[in-house]
Amino acid sequence: KSPVIAVDGPSGSGKGTLCQKLAQHLGWSLLDSGALYRLVGLAGVKHGIALDQEAPLTELARDLDVRFEPGAEGEPTAVILEGEDVSDVVRSESTGELASQVAVLPEVRKALLGRQRAFAQAPGLVADGRDMGTVVFTDADLKIFLTASAEERADRRYNQLINKGESVSLAALLEDIRARDKRDSERKVAPLKPADDAVIIDSSGLGIDDVFDRVLAVVRE
Ligand code: CDP
Repeated sequence: KSPVIAVDGPSGSGKGTLCQKLAQHLGWSLLDSGALYRLVGLAGVKHGIALDQEAPLTELARDLDVRFEPGAEGEPTAVILEGEDVSDVVRSESTGELASQVAVLPEVRKALLGRQRAFAQAPGLVADGRDMGTVVFTDADLKIFLTASAEERADRRYNQLINKGESVSLAALLEDIRARDKRDSERKVAPLKPADDAVIIDSSGLGIDDVFDRVLAVVRE
């Protein structure tokens, strides 16, 4: 069985960047499980399905027509949903909101399980999400729970979005992050919480390189 490193944590904890660096460093594949929830949200809107309609969304999730096309050197992976390039919109703040709405639906989560587990292939997988260590890869070789204060996460997200040219307010982002934390941690299925055997890393006040070094030290143990 191929090794899996499960990385979970709240919105803006720096998981995405950490997982990319880690996968690249180890030469392993990367599962961005949040992208799957984002895609179900986008597809739902596209098909005019209200985001609390569990049955049709579950069907969408099961048959999701998505391709991830590796970009040229240094370019990000392109995300193609039903033949349409959604690479930019899939990462936007508003799509994250759609994702967190469909993510509360137990049948949608179940429908995405097989697709996520199929990513576990040689030489190894870095899995980024909310429930990688608690549900999807319960027997992962290493589980990391990356967190940071809500204020710091809002700050980071703010800088990311400003750099991408999105216009946002810091206060609104902080409110968003708090609301998202609440929805993610209070939902009945796969609530956001560290697995019992997770290594918890608080990245408040740490740069991405500090976090990466800390995680590498744990990986080497
Ligand atoms: O960047 P951010 O962490 O906000 O986004 P993401 O990791 O793409 O996740 C977006 C939303 O999808 C989260 O707020 C969760 O509600 C949901 N999600 C989930 O429920 N389970 C996962 N494994 C990944 C994401």
